[in-house]
Amino acid sequence: MNICVIGAGYVGLTTAAVLADFGHTVCCADVNNERIDQLKRGVIPIYEPGLVELIQKNKNHLSFSSDTSKCIREAQVLLIAVGTPSLVDGRTDLTYVFSVLDNIAQVIDSYKTIITKSTVPPGTNEEMSRQLIKKGVPPHYFNIVSNPEFLREGTAISDMLQPDRIVVGLQADDGRSLAIMKEIYQQTDVPYVVTNLPGAEMIKYTSNAFLATKISFMNEISRICDRYEVNIEDVRKGIGFDPRINPLFLSTGLGYGGSCFPKDVRSLEISALDKNVTPVLLHAVQSVNQSQVEQYVTKLSSFMEDFANKKITVLGISFKPDTDDIRYSPALALIEKLSEIGCIVHTYDPKATLPKSVNGNVIQFEDMKSALNQADCVIIATEWDEFKQLDWHMVKKVIKGDIIMDARNCVDPNLVKQAGLRYIGVARP
Ligand code: NAI
Repeated sequence: MNICVIGAGYVGLTTAAVLADFGHTVCCADVNNERIDQLKRGVIPIYEPGLVELIQKNKNHLSFSSDTSKCIREAQVLLIAVGTPSLVDGRTDLTYVFSVLDNIAQVIDSYKTIITKSTVPPGTNEEMSRQLIKKGVPPHYFNIVSNPEFLREGTAISDMLQPDRIVVGLQADDGRSLAIMKEIYQQTDVPYVVTNLPGAEMIKYTSNAFLATKISFMNEISRICDRYEVNIEDVRKGIGFDPRINPLFLSTGLGYGGSCFPKDVRSLEISALDKNVTPVLLHAVQSVNQSQVEQYVTKLSSFMEDFANKKITVLGISFKPDTDDIRYSPALALIEKLSEIGCIVHTYDPKATLPKSVNGNVIQFEDMKSALNQADCVIIATEWDEFKQLDWHMVKKVIKGDIIMDARNCVDPNLVKQAGLRYIGVARP
């Protein structure tokens, strides 16, 4: 099949590479000329394990272009993977999606399947269909399919090659798109969930909101455990054996971040309010998450008399390991908070870079040892393998103080203590 993927970000690039690997001819288009130039030169603008290799492997039938109109014209299938960030009021910014639609309306001259991969609020795909018709596109020129993406950054390639399920939302009178979707994904043998357009949109939001709820729930439980001197790791194991609960996604720490959970939970809350539903739980999930960083700063204050001019090394900037994505990263929020209260923050991350907006008393180092040098306290904010396997005797020699705050419960407290350091975890008495 000839497929045009519109948007060369985390989702668009991964999708383009995987669909090319399935044997399709793929053109990945983006309005960001610099990004496209890099891709044409073989430079991959994001860090995602395995992506460079997959793009290289399929270079004969995977191209990159800043001429979106040309790619649209030549393709049978258009896959929209542009960003849908939050507006200031928390609503989803659909500007990029609708600008792609304008582009499609201008050039479409034969039947195409238009697949929305971008995460959009319930009702958006139906509105997209209405807009195309309003712009003069004959209804028989297109079908819109909602096909939300569930990949996780850091494991995006394997998540796309072997998804748990494929969700397909169809227009009421669409008799042909399901077969096309099955042809696109013919290499994958997974269950299909077929529903209407808002059904697919709701599945995506519900999935993210449910996962965010698990995180906030465990973070709230860890606060209670902390007060009763109960080890949250025992509680996690103890409940995780129950198949109705399952052991996954029960970790505690600085809270959820990234480009999806924060904006999608908020967007779902607004979608509920728009229809006069008061989403009490969704609101609570966000409140817990928003206060997590503050919790850790408060906790640290009981171990350090004064923050002013204290040198604190924060290990990790990205919102989770194996990605360079810093959007809504709790690690970054922690760095900013510590800087705000007068600390000198040294930081190190294997892949992520501090944004330009962070400056003053925050310095990012190229190597971990330099970042640790003479620190009063070390905080593990992102659970990269590199930090889990730290040589604590080396750390002891390099730092000035003795406090190690493991804000992800990812290291063995005994190893830290054996090196003569003090360990502060998340509800790990
Ligand atoms: P991103 O911000 O990394 O990439 C979006 C790309 O779209 C940018 O390169 C931008 O230049 C391009 N773009 C914007 N307007 C365009 C236009 N008119 N024509 C062509 N290109 C255009 O976004 P990301 O993270 O890839 O997310 C894309 C969508 O997928 C969002 O709706 C997001 O919520 C959803 N999603 C993201 C996941 C993730 O882990 N990042 C996972 C699942 C869904």
